[in-house]
Amino acid sequence: MHGNDAAPGRGLWTSRLAFILAATGSAVGLGNVWRFPYVTGENGGGAFVLLYVVCVAAVGLPIMMAEVMLGRRARRNPIDAMRSLAEQEGRSPQWVWVGRMGMAAGFLILSFYSVIAGWILAYVFRMAGGVFHNAQDAETVGRVFTDLISDPERLLAWHTIFMVITVAIVARGVEHGLERAVRYLMPALFGILVLLFVYAATTPAFLEGVEFMFVPDFGKLSGQAVLEAMGMAFFSLSLGMGAIMVYGSYLPREASIARTCITVAAADTAVALLAGMVIFPIVFSNGLAPAQGPGLVFTTLPLAFAQMPLGTLVGTLFFILLVFAAVTSSISLLEPPVAWLLENGRMDRAKAAGICGFIAWVLGLGTIFSFNIWADYKWTLSLDFTRVQYVLFRDKTFFDIVDFLTANIMLPLGGLLIALFAAHLMRRESCEDELAMDGWHFNLWYFLLRYVAPVAVGLIFLNAIGVFGWVGGGGG
Ligand code: PFF
Repeated sequence: MHGNDAAPGRGLWTSRLAFILAATGSAVGLGNVWRFPYVTGENGGGAFVLLYVVCVAAVGLPIMMAEVMLGRRARRNPIDAMRSLAEQEGRSPQWVWVGRMGMAAGFLILSFYSVIAGWILAYVFRMAGGVFHNAQDAETVGRVFTDLISDPERLLAWHTIFMVITVAIVARGVEHGLERAVRYLMPALFGILVLLFVYAATTPAFLEGVEFMFVPDFGKLSGQAVLEAMGMAFFSLSLGMGAIMVYGSYLPREASIARTCITVAAADTAVALLAGMVIFPIVFSNGLAPAQGPGLVFTTLPLAFAQMPLGTLVGTLFFILLVFAAVTSSISLLEPPVAWLLENGRMDRAKAAGICGFIAWVLGLGTIFSFNIWADYKWTLSLDFTRVQYVLFRDKTFFDIVDFLTANIMLPLGGLLIALFAAHLMRRESCEDELAMDGWHFNLWYFLLRYVAPVAVGLIFLNAIGVFGWVGGGGG
């Protein structure tokens, strides 16, 4: 990052490409390969996938452009960006709360992200050590996974290692090494996924798997599933919490925001869909349950590696690349609060990164225990009125709650507020000036941001708690 048109003391990406790489690095991660397949499995497949893609295009993309726009216009961390933009546009200073909630969401997401990335790290060593070499059956592979997650000590060790890696990179400034990591390693990850797809195509239930993903059955769709699809879009695109805003704040003025965001969203969606097309054929070919939850990738992919030539090598490489994908996302989760501390507190990057990483690390303990010693603690949250009861969630572990609150509530809510601010409270000329798009493209974006995104998010929220009594709303 250089500093020509940035605010004093702040960095700038060296080019539009550098931003695309960083933002793609943020977007593509465990959300695509771990979370998307298992959440799709839990929500019945096709109809969920269709909704997810619609949410990415009609809600996610316009909000992503708005986030980048706000960041670049303010050239500050998300909290101060919202404060200064609100001031410039003559609006209430309370808009800082969008930045604050985003940072809180970032800590919470990072806390479990690091734990799951720890599982991936553990799998690098299990793959390389040949643990799955002779594990051709689903049961043995499943046992390796259960053994791992039922041991809090081991999970803690991997979680700590991953968090230290994240902090170390953010401490040095996000640009060092990141460009190279994303430029070469992401295409390599994509390459292995394509290879796995070729393998999946030879399995007996290939068609069944692909059908599961692409043939929608709206009968299976609950109000909660619609909420999950939208939450998945926000999570996967890293939206609603300031990560993309802070990256946008380092974007050179001449770069086209629209083209950049379309590239990022397309790459992100491609990786998620490909991961699903690999995993579901393996699920059905081995008689596994698509709705088994967060263990899905860990109990399916090793089977594929065990059965393919050079599987140990390919599998090890795959998990290594997935660690890189996770790191390029986790650093973007840590960057907003670190930028805030840097621009407000008197401390250096290393200290700021250390403090923020420590907070997320402590929160991560709750996720670790959710899979073992706290596995039986489950909570339900409902709003009870005399005539109606709105169930927000039911029977969820600590991890489930953090995941649910961040992805399905905080990120869409953050996105909704960003859309409202950018499209209703900012002057239209400010948006036009920053986006520099031609007439009808701008109008389309503005329409999506002004009406479609807020209405969609609002209705999906209300529907999910069963306010309308539409498709199976409530519970879940
Ligand atoms: N988009 C990342 C993924 O799909 O793995 C996760 C993520 C990163 C979510 C950054 C939110 C965020 F701000």
